Amino acid sequence: MKVGFVGWRGMVGSVLMERMQAENDFANIEPVFFTTSNVGGAAPAIASGLPALKDAYSVDDLKQLDAIITCQGGDYTNEIFPKLRASGWNGYWIDAASSLRMAKDAIIVLDPVNLDVIKDGIAKGVKNYIGGNCTVSLMLMGLGGLFHAGLVEWVSSMTYQAASGAGAQNMRELISQMGTLHASVADKLADPKSAILEIDRIIAETMRGDDLPKANFGHPLAGSLLPYIDKQWETGQSKEEWKGQAETNKILGRDGNPIPVDGLCVRIGAMRCHSQALTIKLNKDVPITDIEALIANANPWAKVVPNDRESSMRDLTPTAVTGTLSIPVGRLRKMNMGPQYLSAFTVGDQLLWGAAEPLRRMLRVLKE
Ligand code: HSE
Repeated sequence: MKVGFVGWRGMVGSVLMERMQAENDFANIEPVFFTTSNVGGAAPAIASGLPALKDAYSVDDLKQLDAIITCQGGDYTNEIFPKLRASGWNGYWIDAASSLRMAKDAIIVLDPVNLDVIKDGIAKGVKNYIGGNCTVSLMLMGLGGLFHAGLVEWVSSMTYQAASGAGAQNMRELISQMGTLHASVADKLADPKSAILEIDRIIAETMRGDDLPKANFGHPLAGSLLPYIDKQWETGQSKEEWKGQAETNKILGRDGNPIPVDGLCVRIGAMRCHSQALTIKLNKDVPITDIEALIANANPWAKVVPNDRESSMRDLTPTAVTGTLSIPVGRLRKMNMGPQYLSAFTVGDQLLWGAAEPLRRMLRVLKE
């Protein structure tokens, strides 16, 4: 299988490359690397004898491939995908960008949750397989067991989304903001007798001032939060919030009979793990031990964290999860609203299950 890679040098692309090397995925395919800026340059050193980098805008070169994986972004997809299909190319298009996600002839890939939908698509000749929104994918990796058991009447998700979801430059900016804040009071921090309210006043002044780097976020994130992610839509939802219901139901293959999913999406100062506090209305009263078993048994990565303080603080944080494929789900308990109302908190690495991992696994599904 000849597989083209576009956008492999960016943040999601680099995570994809690392994961594919770790899982020995390149042994099963013939990789061809593309570039938008360095045609003829050397391919990455993942194997010997790889051809030089090809032009990512050359339909003739792209047409030679059985499958293309792109992490180049939505503008690239919008420009090249229609031309490639118009040229008669009938290979598999596997894409991290959202451009084609909701298209009728595209499937959102998250195989631990929707392998049946993916396989059905392959059998029916669907050729476009798109990675889902990170927040949606991470929620379904954690709670897939409850959805599959048919127990979910609706979900409200309040998110705590990391800087990485906004891009590599935003991650850098978050750290720079932290540094600027620290520097503004470093002398006072060093003096244990300095007044905390004076430190606080300077920090607030720095956050509101012009010295804080904010070219990417446009606002202070360090020491604060951003209560809006992505575009504003007329419904009052942000585009990120809209994706919750649209993509969850598309992934589960239930467009015609959607489960309501809604909530607020908020950016916080975490690096690359998105967290979500969930309120789930179950359609019947199910014992919490059964709920825990359904969640834990749904896939090898979802794991139940006991709802105690120590376990939650140790295992249910971005710090614990970052750089791993683990999807802990904790704070599981019935709420005061009644026995059908379940609370949950889940954390997942936005660059792994939220972006790169479903794409590399899609190649494996195609090879089966
Ligand atoms: N839209 C997400 C975010 C990232 O801004 O966190 C990728 O799905």
